[in-house]
Amino acid sequence: MSLEAEIRALKESRNAVLLAHNYQRPEVQDIADFVGDSLYLSRQARETDRETIVFAGVRFMAETAKILNPTRTVLLPDLKAGCGLADSITAEQLRTWKAAHPGAAVVAYINTSAEVKAESDYCCTSSNAVQVVNGIPADREILFLPDMFLGEYVRRRTGRTIHLWVGDCPVHARLRPEDLDRARLQHPGAPVIAHPECGCSTQAMESVDRVLSTDGMLRFAEETHAPEVLVATEVGILHRMHRLNPTTRFTPLDAGTVCPYMKEIDLADIRDALEFRRYVIDVPPETAARARTALERMVAA
Ligand code: 13P
Ligand code: SF4
Repeated sequence: MSLEAEIRALKESRNAVLLAHNYQRPEVQDIADFVGDSLYLSRQARETDRETIVFAGVRFMAETAKILNPTRTVLLPDLKAGCGLADSITAEQLRTWKAAHPGAAVVAYINTSAEVKAESDYCCTSSNAVQVVNGIPADREILFLPDMFLGEYVRRRTGRTIHLWVGDCPVHARLRPEDLDRARLQHPGAPVIAHPECGCSTQAMESVDRVLSTDGMLRFAEETHAPEVLVATEVGILHRMHRLNPTTRFTPLDAGTVCPYMKEIDLADIRDALEFRRYVIDVPPETAARARTALERMVAA
């Protein structure tokens, strides 16, 4: 039996749903029940009636699923699937930062640990960060963490008083305005779409055509009539772009934009996760209870 067939059979016998992020390996995306950005997958995890959620993504996504749907078993097929951005702030560091800004509202990007979310008032993803911040009473200062590029983008879009945590995604931050200028010269006329975590997205915001979450980029890809589009994000997203729109050429701004964490999980890991019920992601109930309010605000926005 092929690995794909084994996975399909195990998903049924274990009453499991397989969720995959847009950056996963093509073969993992192809066998998933749902593929999408972090907001879409959080909503799927929250709504599923399956007993087990297998998360082909990274740890903070699996933790989020567990917090939003605590009676389900959540499996992360490889524990090395972490996130360099989520590692850039600890709950202890956040408590110290909050103490220096009493009264400020804390907005945590979903790319954070459960402990950090438990110290936060609101969570957001790249697709709804602006709406979440616009929903906070206008007289409140905001602490935005941990991604400074996304935070700066939100600050410019909302005009709010936002203090930024100086963290970044090691994969996206390396895409600099110079890379954008070079690609523009090599591909004249091609529109540029960029994820807000990119180091080029805010400093060169004027020369990026659209700043979008990964699902936003896929919608753009599906609808565009441009002969070529330059894509500034993790290259795993190109798989669905080609499928959604075979007549447009999707060119990565930098083909080396690969997230090692997102590539940890392969089909054999997923098969083993289902067969051996591993690796179970649990969040201490007290931490989960404190993080849930912020996460519910995120899925409602
Ligand atoms: P999206 O929510 O846009 O899918 O982004 C998640 C992520 O980890 C980007 O690096
Ligand atoms: Fe984390 Fe960056 Fe990888 Fe996204 S691309 S999972 S933010 S390290």
